[in-house]
Amino acid sequence: MNISDSEIVASILTDDGYELTKEISSADIIFVNTCSIREHAEEKVRKRLQYFKSFRKKSPSLVIGLLGCMADRTKVALMEEEQLLDLVAGPDAYRHLPQLLAQVGTGRTAIDTILSTDETYADITPVRLDSNGISSFISIMRGCENYCSYCVVPSTRGQERSRNAATIVNETRDLFEKGYREVTLLGQNVNSYCWESGGESINFARLLEQVALVSPLMRIRFATSHPKDISDELLHTIARHPNLCKAIHLPVQSGSNHMLDLMNRKYTREDYLGRIHAIREILPGCAVSTDIIAGFCDETEEDHQETLSLMNLVGYDAAFMFKYSERPQTLAADTLSDNVPEDVKERRLTEIINLQQKLSLESNRKEIGKTVEVLIEGVSKRSENEYFGRTSQNKVVVFNKMEYLPGEYLQVKITGTTSATLRGEHADFNV
Ligand code: 5AD
Ligand code: SF4
Repeated sequence: MNISDSEIVASILTDDGYELTKEISSADIIFVNTCSIREHAEEKVRKRLQYFKSFRKKSPSLVIGLLGCMADRTKVALMEEEQLLDLVAGPDAYRHLPQLLAQVGTGRTAIDTILSTDETYADITPVRLDSNGISSFISIMRGCENYCSYCVVPSTRGQERSRNAATIVNETRDLFEKGYREVTLLGQNVNSYCWESGGESINFARLLEQVALVSPLMRIRFATSHPKDISDELLHTIARHPNLCKAIHLPVQSGSNHMLDLMNRKYTREDYLGRIHAIREILPGCAVSTDIIAGFCDETEEDHQETLSLMNLVGYDAAFMFKYSERPQTLAADTLSDNVPEDVKERRLTEIINLQQKLSLESNRKEIGKTVEVLIEGVSKRSENEYFGRTSQNKVVVFNKMEYLPGEYLQVKITGTTSATLRGEHADFNV
């Protein structure tokens, strides 16, 4: 999400005559794009801003700006009290950056953190930053109104709004023509995507179908799905199009109904397992990944065991795992007590991570002996003689470099694995 926002900012400013630089010491303006979802975010940003402020000794006219989620909440401390900033712009204020910068040019500080109900930056073609030229992101909606009790997003990114479907399809086509072969459609809850056009309503399944039809050679992924909204219609759409990747990220957060209720997730463990069952039925071989929070308010040992047991039942292919960290302006901060001791949170998180490592290894072992289609992404970090790429299930495969090029598809026979990476050989070598 944040990379996607930085790409929109880069586009707005390059259109206004600014240039990007990779040399931070030669920059006239430095923007720090922030996310406050998880812990220590603010401390990290403060340290970074203090470091950038030290550049002012050499270049006194340097402008330092803060963008994104943290803008509204930290503007008083970071701008007024600590004087680390010249400019603060919230996630819906990026179009005003040229004016805000002009204001800073006259010697004043500039702030715009107003959230919008309709800004989607639909007409802006992002400048791709740090891209491998093969895979990219497209933001399809902004904001969230689910109000999960631990989550800061509804208060920092505002109301949910969907972006014009035609602009999403056009952006996908444009990327394909530029040589990209994979896009990830991004939103906080893509399953509630909805765009009304000419009396017709386009839901996420229909959008995905339209994007899939851009080219069979363009792989499409998406994140994130909320378990309460992932429909059979969507699963059947994925089943119909081979270029819609067989990998679903379905954050469960906890395996305990008591925790799910306190988290305001609006589904039960049983509902969730029902959706997993539907995925297994409609999309055999589809990878499932998740997000898990350890040590949420009031979490007992039994609740924690329920999370471990659910992980075993689902057999996740991958997971992002976090220790609960209270965020300001959330339902949990206002109404619940962050009462699981730090050492207990840490121990539970470690148990979750260890179990996931075992599950990831088991999931990868099942691939050994199979021949899979891999999209080549680039040269492996470990060896110049090897390429790495991904399967439709989002598993990373490393294999010997041959006459193929990044962006091409290759049939690879899987010969070995660790919990993180598969090893393979070009399938033609094995016949
Ligand atoms: N503490 C820990 N993890 C959190 N997440 C969101 N808010 C918090 C929090 N306060 C995690 C959730 C979410 C992912 C993006 O970040 O697991 O799915
Ligand atoms: Fe946060 Fe829940 Fe919205 Fe995800 S769905 S962004 S966890 S409030």
